[in-house]
Amino acid sequence: MSQAEIASDGTRPLLSLRDINITFGGVRALKDVSFEVRPGEVHCLAGENGSGKSTLIKIITGVYRPAPGAQIEYDGETYSHMSPVTAQQKGIQVIWQDLALFPEMSVAENIAFQTVLGRWPRLVNYRKIRSLAINALKRLGVAFDVDLPLKEFAIAQRQIVAIARALVGEAKIVFMDEPTASLTQSETDHLLDIVRTLSAEGVAVVFVSHRLAEVLEISSRLTVLRDGAMVGVYPTSGMTQSRITELMTGKNFDNHVRAAPKDDQPVVLDVRSLTRHGQFADISLTVKRGETLGITGLLGAGRTELALALFGMTRPHAGTITLDGKQVEFSSNRDAIKAGVAYLSEDRLSLGLIQPQSIADNLVIASLPKIQAGGFLSDEKKETLVAGWIRELGVKIGQQQDAVSTLSGGNQQRIAIAKWLATSPKLLILDAPTVGVDVGARAGIFDIVAKLAATGLAIILISDEVPEVYFNADRVLHMKQGRIVGAFDPRQNSLQDIEAAVYA
Ligand SMILES: Nc1ncnc2c1ncn2[C@@H]1O[C@H](COP(=O)(O)OP(=O)(O)OP(=O)(O)O)[C@@H](O)[C@H]1O
Ligand SMILES: [Mg+2]
Repeated sequence: MSQAEIASDGTRPLLSLRDINITFGGVRALKDVSFEVRPGEVHCLAGENGSGKSTLIKIITGVYRPAPGAQIEYDGETYSHMSPVTAQQKGIQVIWQDLALFPEMSVAENIAFQTVLGRWPRLVNYRKIRSLAINALKRLGVAFDVDLPLKEFAIAQRQIVAIARALVGEAKIVFMDEPTASLTQSETDHLLDIVRTLSAEGVAVVFVSHRLAEVLEISSRLTVLRDGAMVGVYPTSGMTQSRITELMTGKNFDNHVRAAPKDDQPVVLDVRSLTRHGQFADISLTVKRGETLGITGLLGAGRTELALALFGMTRPHAGTITLDGKQVEFSSNRDAIKAGVAYLSEDRLSLGLIQPQSIADNLVIASLPKIQAGGFLSDEKKETLVAGWIRELGVKIGQQQDAVSTLSGGNQQRIAIAKWLATSPKLLILDAPTVGVDVGARAGIFDIVAKLAATGLAIILISDEVPEVYFNADRVLHMKQGRIVGAFDPRQNSLQDIEAAVYA
């Protein structure tokens, strides 16, 4: 990447970074990175898990300080590093993954409190706060009851509140780090509309997402990082998902429909007419040894509710569940785990991981019996088990003892999967297992899923990304409003057939 290339276009950048380096514990997380954003453009930052995207954002917003020699030019001024206060005052705003909002406070206070406090005179006038908030929301094309406490709003709406807060802060540039990871398709569409609105008003947006379809749809340019180094800056027009993947990973991933499974295998899971009022109704399905059953449908179709019932978290009102020929009734997930069911939840923000605890403890927590020797926990067994899975799943970690919170989002996801694989289940339910996971790692995860299936594990793979089930499952069920409304065979139906049914 030459600097001449960056400056080749005549437009004057709003933000321009050069020679950005940063090291964590001896590891260089960013190496000589340059980055440039023009006023009002939507610029995507792409790269695999751990490639340094969030770190770069934290440098621009003053959370981290780059190594000496860095040059940051923003809105006509030069800085050697940013501070969070300067960044905010100058209109650099971030929508953090956890949104950093206050659930107990009203929507209006969340949106406008900070700005009002930062101004002189510091008159905290609720009417002023209210009107600032209402106007900011109006610019985004939404009207919420701004007097309600934020906790009464769903995640997608909270995100809009966070964006409105950025607008009140007179943002010139807004960073969004994986804003769509926990949104449904229609919420995502709405968010992308909001991004377009911001851009049309002259606010630049830097957008991070592992969903490459979104990247292609929303951005005009993209900067690709690989292992903390710059790969290049590209116009989005003319890009394809596979080209971006290649730039991110240096590899080519070809998707193939799976070969037909052996059909003489015994049934592991047999579900008959399972019903839970208000959630799902009359669900019948089977999964054989070594088979991967895909379940797709829009979010809210009842897929997760079904999974929770199969995992003993809720009780069905009617119907039966039979595992390995024996009818079961789970009164808790402990019963389900004992019976050989594992469930990786879709909860992106917690993943069922205990953030401050070590990688090793998180990984073994569901399989304690395996690391015992003579009634005691064996550190040696634990270390071997953990090391084995970390190697198997290619998780990038420092020490087993490091807190899980130090890992990048995608590496945390792999630890969550490893935690369940370590229980050696008969039936593994993966609920949206690759949300927030980059393409390379996705391929890695599905290679593992295929390998596990080959060893006889029965797998249910739930995803709202139709290609994901199409290329990684033997059969695909389509759920809608709590019912199974279609069944597909990827070897006979085309991807477009299934997508047409699901997105109809
Ligand atoms: N505070 C920190 N201490 C130690 N290492 C860190 C810290 N912050 C980031 N890193 C390391 O820097 C590298 C880049 O991490 P970063 O979070 O920027 O990746 P990312 O591209 O945002 O990944 P993801 O897509 O998974 O969110 C990783 O190897 C990560 O472990
Ligand atoms: Mg990140």
